[in-house]
Amino acid sequence: MITTIKKYSFGAHAPTGAVTAQVEEGDTLPYFSVQAEGQGTRFRCPLEKDDVVYGLGETMRGIDKRGGRYVSFNTDNPHHTQDMPSLYGSHNFIVVDGKKTFGAFFDTPARAVFEIDCGGSGEVNVLCERGVTVYIVEGESAHAVVRRFLRAVGRSYLPPLWAFGFGQSRWGYKDERDIRRIARGYAKAGMPLDYICMDIDYMDRYIDFTVNKKRFPDLKAFVVEMKGKGVRLVPIVDAGIKVEPGDPVYEEGVQKGYFCKNIEGKDFCAAVWPGMTHFPDFLRPEVRAWFGRQYKVYTDAGIEGFWNDMNEPAIFYSEYTKGKGGERSEGDPLYRGNTFLSDYRNFCHNIEGKEVNHWEVHNIFGANMTRASAEGLDALLNGRYLLFSRSSYIGAHRYGGIWTGDNASCWDHLRQNVLQMPSLNMCGFLFSGADTGGFGGNASRELLLRWLAVSAFTPLFRDHASKGTRPQECFRFRGKKDFRSILSLRYRLLPYIYSEFMKAALSFDMYMQPLAFGYPQDARARRVEDELLVGESLLIAPVLEKGAKGRRVYLPEAMTEVRWDGASFSARQAAAGEHFVKVPLGEVVFYIRKGKLLPVGGAAMHTGECDLSAVTLLGDGEEYEQYLDDGLTRSVSEDNIRLLRRQG
Ligand code: GLC
Repeated sequence: MITTIKKYSFGAHAPTGAVTAQVEEGDTLPYFSVQAEGQGTRFRCPLEKDDVVYGLGETMRGIDKRGGRYVSFNTDNPHHTQDMPSLYGSHNFIVVDGKKTFGAFFDTPARAVFEIDCGGSGEVNVLCERGVTVYIVEGESAHAVVRRFLRAVGRSYLPPLWAFGFGQSRWGYKDERDIRRIARGYAKAGMPLDYICMDIDYMDRYIDFTVNKKRFPDLKAFVVEMKGKGVRLVPIVDAGIKVEPGDPVYEEGVQKGYFCKNIEGKDFCAAVWPGMTHFPDFLRPEVRAWFGRQYKVYTDAGIEGFWNDMNEPAIFYSEYTKGKGGERSEGDPLYRGNTFLSDYRNFCHNIEGKEVNHWEVHNIFGANMTRASAEGLDALLNGRYLLFSRSSYIGAHRYGGIWTGDNASCWDHLRQNVLQMPSLNMCGFLFSGADTGGFGGNASRELLLRWLAVSAFTPLFRDHASKGTRPQECFRFRGKKDFRSILSLRYRLLPYIYSEFMKAALSFDMYMQPLAFGYPQDARARRVEDELLVGESLLIAPVLEKGAKGRRVYLPEAMTEVRWDGASFSARQAAAGEHFVKVPLGEVVFYIRKGKLLPVGGAAMHTGECDLSAVTLLGDGEEYEQYLDDGLTRSVSEDNIRLLRRQG
């Protein structure tokens, strides 16, 4: 029983599975005033002038969420503008940090609206439109609150070592030849690569769990061939099952009644990539088990990595809205998702025998798809696997990672990637990252290089781009040396990145933190949002501006400044305070905190060539605790931590 967290119920809701710890019921909700509103409840908490409000995971704006309105309502939304209220996930955890410091998790599967000092209101104002359980988390600091919360929602998903390697992806790779060409391009350019994602074109007419035989005549042999080159294949799986008489998955789903029903009680039809599809009712355990079993088609072919998509669920139109249009905006001019919102009222789930309209449980649909995949893969495979999803809810972080969806090749989205990482970590999603270089639009050489220098530190490190955009693979650009430099840095940092990720997961901590969490007494550090702490030893201050030769860096204390120039590391002492640091394209500058060490390994073309135990230590610390295992086993424990001591 955790005593520093208490829960308070305001109306009933379907279980979300977010909190796994035993938590006691409290008497009266502290910090917030409570008012019934419609079928839900409004919560209000006054803010002091200097309070910072953290959290909300995958949302826009800064690490401090003040000044914004955020709507938890999972949306397939490629318009990642500053004022966009909803993205693909709903992560309803906030931390108020000031004179009073506490966390609040609004656990509800339905829509919730967070207005955080919006328009200078001076309050946190949360409307939960249906039943909600509020968890209040106490702690002596924002970081302590987050750590308690992470313990309550359970351990992060643990990926294999190869999932920390670099991955290349593009919507448009069609066949074996395309994929071979990508692997060859990287190998020839001397750039490391661990996996290539297979987007929807590998399937037969976008039908889940099929492989187009013309394009991939022998998937199993192809997997072996690519693995021989150190490259794994990672196919996409979409949420909807194509309405396709004769397809065994479709037939079985219909026959067993596994699909969501429309409001007339028939299988609901919604158009996604394959045309009309049915949505598996992932909220039912037997449906999850059935869906999870389908991954066998791929695991039998030797595949150990997957990305789940379109699981908000994305709907282009449905049997109800086809040709008729529908309610796209819900009276909110900022609301520009791809889906007709009315369709989310047009189908139902069956929860423990009771019919529940999708609207009531919308935000946990994608999370349950991830759970279905993870439970299936747990049974099908012996070791760990790569799994990441687009849609999510807190709790899904135990089953897989997430990527941050369809961003664009623009400098704002590079910055947003930096801002989102700590917030995602606070909500449990340690294994995350953005489409490096941007999904939509054309990435310039400069933008891609600066973005690689950020993603080189994020657990999920994948270059992905949309159809119709300029080729975005690193080897396609001139001046390959600069790309080689940053990619090879990632592999040299892997002993540290892997170790810090695993230690964070095992100890219910964050992998990427705001500066404020490391230096809570430092008023200036509390305001810095474009520098992050990565694991226990590193501070990164990436260049986020077009045309910049370098940037201003604020160091809360003296640190070791490390410069990677593509061939070697050079280190110098940097004093506390503000510096201008020059960072030419292709170089990366980062900082090792006082009294800390950074283990770095040798060069590698893929993780199979990495020896995480052969490391050199940089920095002025004395000891480093390195987590080390075979990168695949599921039996992880703190016993795998060894103590490294600086020589001399
Ligand atoms: C969605 C995904 C994107 C993918 C595309 C085609 O837009 O977010 O990553 O490439 O669908 O499958």
